[in-house]
Formats: sequence, C-alpha cells, structure tokens
Amino acid sequence: MNEKVFRDPVHNYITVNHPVIYDLINSKEFQRLRRVKQVSTTVFTFHGAEHSRFSHCLGVYEIARRVTEIFDAKFPDIWDSNENLLTMVAALLHDVGHGAYSHTFEKLFDTDHEAITQEIITSLDTEVNAILRRVSPDFPEKVASVINHTYHNKQVVQLISSQIDCDRMDYLLRDSYYSGANYGQFDLTRILRVIRPTKDGIVFEYSGMHAVEDYIVSRFQMYMQVYFHPASRAMEVLLQNLLKRAKYLYQIDSQFFERTSPNLMPFLANHANLHDYLSLDDGVMNTYFQAWMTAEDDILADLASRFVNRKVFKSVTFEEASRQELSYLVDLVKSVGFDPDYYTGIHVNFDLPYDIYRPEKKEPRTEINMIQKDGSVVELSTISPIVKTLTGTIYGDRRFYFPKEMLSDDDLFAHTKNEFMSYIANDHFVSHD
Ligand code: NI
Repeated sequence: MNEKVFRDPVHNYITVNHPVIYDLINSKEFQRLRRVKQVSTTVFTFHGAEHSRFSHCLGVYEIARRVTEIFDAKFPDIWDSNENLLTMVAALLHDVGHGAYSHTFEKLFDTDHEAITQEIITSLDTEVNAILRRVSPDFPEKVASVINHTYHNKQVVQLISSQIDCDRMDYLLRDSYYSGANYGQFDLTRILRVIRPTKDGIVFEYSGMHAVEDYIVSRFQMYMQVYFHPASRAMEVLLQNLLKRAKYLYQIDSQFFERTSPNLMPFLANHANLHDYLSLDDGVMNTYFQAWMTAEDDILADLASRFVNRKVFKSVTFEEASRQELSYLVDLVKSVGFDPDYYTGIHVNFDLPYDIYRPEKKEPRTEINMIQKDGSVVELSTISPIVKTLTGTIYGDRRFYFPKEMLSDDDLFAHTKNEFMSYIANDHFVSHD
C-alpha cells in the first residue's frame, strides 16, 4: 500500500506502511479511542490535557515501529524481522479496551480494561479480530499473549511492557506536552540510538546511561506533579461518589436512568456485555451527568453539578496508622448535613518509580540493564546514583476528601470550621489542598 502518515505533535510524522495497521486504525473499536481522554480527570487540573487514547496508541505504535526498523537494520542476527508486525500491532492495541473514566468506572461496575482489551482482540465479533485473522488464524491469540506478557519472545514483550517500554515512553512525552507541565521530557532520539535486543530481552548501551536515567527521573516527576495531583484525585472521588449514588438510586427508580442514561442501564442492571461497553465514551457519560443535574434526588443532582462545574473536594493527607481517626472528621461532615457516604472519600496513590529484579515478589520487575563495550551487562541503579535513590521505594500519599464548605466561614459551617481546622492541623494530618 501507499505510505500513510498522521501528523502528531509529539512524534511529528507517524508512518503507516502496512495495510493491517491501517485497517486496525480505521476499525470502529480503535476509532472509539478518539472519544476517550488519555488522562481522564487530570484535565480538570491541567486544562491542556484533552488528548485522547487514540493519539497515545498511535504514538506507542510509532515508537515500536521505529524500534523494529532500527533492530532490522542494526541487529539482523539477534532480532527476528518476522516479529515486526506483531510488535507494532501489540503496541497499537495495548490500550484498546480502555473506557470512559476507566479506573473509576472499573471500581464501581466491576469491569477490567485489560480483560476487555483481550476480548476485543480475541472475540470473533469485533472488526479488530477480523482484521487480525487475515494475518493468520492464530494471530489474534499471539497479539493477546504479547499484551498479557506470556508470549515466548521476551524482546517483544519487553518493548510493549517493562520499566522502559514504548507505552511509557509515549505517555510521558505526550502527557507532558499536552499538560504543559514541562516535566516528563527526555531524549527519545538518544534512547532509540542506544536500545538493543539481546537473546532474552532488551538492553541499552552504556553510553546512553544518562538518557535512560533522565527518563526514570522524568517519569517520577510526572507522577508526583501531574498524575497524583490532589485536585484531579478530588474529581475522581467526586465521580466515584456520583456513580455510587446512581447505582443506589437505580434500585429505587430505574425509569429515571432509562430516560436519562440509556447506555448505562446494562451496567446498573449488572448484565453488560462487550457491545454495551463499547457504546460508552467520555461524551456519552458527560451528557448523562448533565442530565442528572436536574434529578429529583438532591444528592445525585448536587454531585452531578459539582462534577460538571468542577467544584473540587478539599483534602488532608494521613498516615495509615491514623486512619481510624478520620471518623472524627466524618462525624463533623455529617453534623452539618452532608451524607458522608457521598461527600467524603479516601484516595490512595503510590508509585514505585523503579526497581531491580526481585524474584521473590509476586510480579517481579524486569530491571533495566546497560551493556558495556566488552558485552557484559550492569543493572542501571548500580551505575546511576540518582536512579539508586529512587529504587525500591514507593512514593505517594493517602488523602481524605471532604466538601470545601467545611472550611468556609458561612453561618452554617462557622461553628464546625474551627473544630475541623484544629483537628486537621494536628500531627496526624499533614496538609490540606
Ligand atoms: Ni498505554
């Protein structure tokens, strides 16, 4: 086929010269990703971050395409060029099962975007599957096995999923670009010059150590500054409580939801299938939230309007040891008339920036290895003091969320405000945002 290109702000041109890739991009399951935001509630903090899963998946594909091209040219004895198409397809489809507000939605409705990714690839009912079967009858299963890490060729698996893979490299650059945060940038061009296949995985040339180190640090900073931002998490808590209220009300008045939010019905009734899942996206959900703003139920209407109008909850951080002391704050929230089931929430976010291979762990990480001139390999944290300090330690916090009104001077709240303020100022609660 004639080469096709997609103009992309991160990678400039994304090049497609295989008809299978082009047809997958044009499948309805993949086009749906245009209607799902990459970073969901983060956009409430970083307003530029409106980019879609579609652009991210294309970006991961493009990095994978460049890597296979480099491996073909430089390492024909170690890299099997028969793996090129599989690698590019797995990269393109790795997130195809993501839905609207995935993480929050999954908690409430018991869906799983990874399982749905597998289903879209292997189910005989999808356009994606029909395109993959043209390659060979077992190709869908092969793609699925790369994404769930069971494929025999570890080179391919590590390119799609490891501590330095095409997925992470794209989302860091992309989320950094669209958020405008400036964290998250690193030298992809340099990394592509030093990446190499070995017989059982992927390594980087020793001379590229600082580029890889910079990628780890950038990733750490993106988590701390962008992904874990307290305001985005406040919106996630709000969304969770809103959907929880909808689930509760459905038991009492299902007709309201039939009228205002038909595509959610199979989820509220707990019998959703793949087709139902694919009929949801950010736009559909946001339309339903607007409809709920005029609901007769005060709590649903209020939570929906807080979400649509970005009325964020406030929060304090707490240590696990003082979790039971939160009940005092819950009581204060309750004392002014808020139902704490819907007006408070806990949000815990931790990330492990990097780790060495620890076979005793349930899901051991594949460590990043650097190859020296003599062919021997060293693990990254043994040569980078900066990476060493980030190795094996989790970073993040636990937050208790509550309505902003608790800190206001309004008559209704003034008498509890002082109590609330003095309680959260004690040793157990570190800060509020
Ligand atoms: Ni991804």
